[in-house]
Amino acid sequence: MNAFKKLPLSYQFALLLLGLAAIAAVGSYLIGSSVYISETRNQARTVADMVDNFGQWATRYRGVWVKDDPRDAKLQVGSFLEREVANGQVGDAAAFHRKNPALVQRELSDITMASPAKAKFRMTSDRFMNPGNAPTEFDKVAMSTIRETGATEYSEVRGGQLLYARRLVAEKGCLRCHGVPSEAPAAVSALYPGPQGYGYEEGKLAGVISVAIPLEFSIGSFVQRFDRQVWAALVAMALGVAGLLAFIRQQVIVPVRKVREFALAASGSDPGAKIDKVEFIEGEHTSANEIHELNTAVKAMHTSIEYLYRKMTKR
Ligand code: HEC
Repeated sequence: MNAFKKLPLSYQFALLLLGLAAIAAVGSYLIGSSVYISETRNQARTVADMVDNFGQWATRYRGVWVKDDPRDAKLQVGSFLEREVANGQVGDAAAFHRKNPALVQRELSDITMASPAKAKFRMTSDRFMNPGNAPTEFDKVAMSTIRETGATEYSEVRGGQLLYARRLVAEKGCLRCHGVPSEAPAAVSALYPGPQGYGYEEGKLAGVISVAIPLEFSIGSFVQRFDRQVWAALVAMALGVAGLLAFIRQQVIVPVRKVREFALAASGSDPGAKIDKVEFIEGEHTSANEIHELNTAVKAMHTSIEYLYRKMTKR
């Protein structure tokens, strides 16, 4: 500490300023990344809302019917619960296929997974029907936390991603398929004989909508986000700091040096020799500026020594 105190004031000040700049940089990085994470969490909420709404839409029609076309080999209807042959309108084998809401959401999830979209989502449950929907480690933590705390959502940052889970509560209608296998529609129990995927209890947690969004927050991308306004603010701050430095130099360091020069000249000169006195400002002795006061005091000391000397040599 003494070594620091012994440094020239300008060095001390520069060091302090550097420290301050480092703290400000780390601080703004931390604030930036926290804002970025909470923004990403909001994106995840929006994705979950969209999945929810899409499920509501499919629920309105108790699932969605998809019709195949035997003349089009490329048209695949994928998984379905029930199949009803269409009345021979398209071709003999044309049929409607019912996709229940969870299946519709699963297919949307598959499309999202295969797309370049950054935000991916899945529907999952610890009582999953489809092994492809089995919960990940995060999903399990999310479900047990939501069960314990009664929260509606849970999120964490893991492996460079924001992982978000939204609670799905089992309603009466869900029990039709997810209650007991023997009471489930034949199409469901044929596809998923159980016991996995059944045993939902009304009002209890059924599963979660699980969203994953990659976090791409680095210093580089942080700086890339700077727009004109941010640069203008940074330039203004830099100008402010430069102004402060100039002020310290002009108002403290340079005047103190001048006082020191005077004191050195006075102490090194022969008594009675004429030394130029420093005067920073007119009426300096009435100034409240500490450096003016110091200068006045040094000059007064010099005057009293001269006075003493003259008195002594006169005798
Ligand atoms: C018509 C029958 C049916 C109803 C009603 C139904 N589900 Fe499902 N649910 C299924 C089927 C079938 C799957 C498997 C879909 C797949 O293959 O991905 C499934 C899958 C799920 C999944 C994904 C995990 C898994 O089990 O594979 C969740 C979560 C889920 N359902 C929750 C619900 C909730 C909550 C409700 C009520 C709001 C509900 N389901 C109503 C049939 C149904």
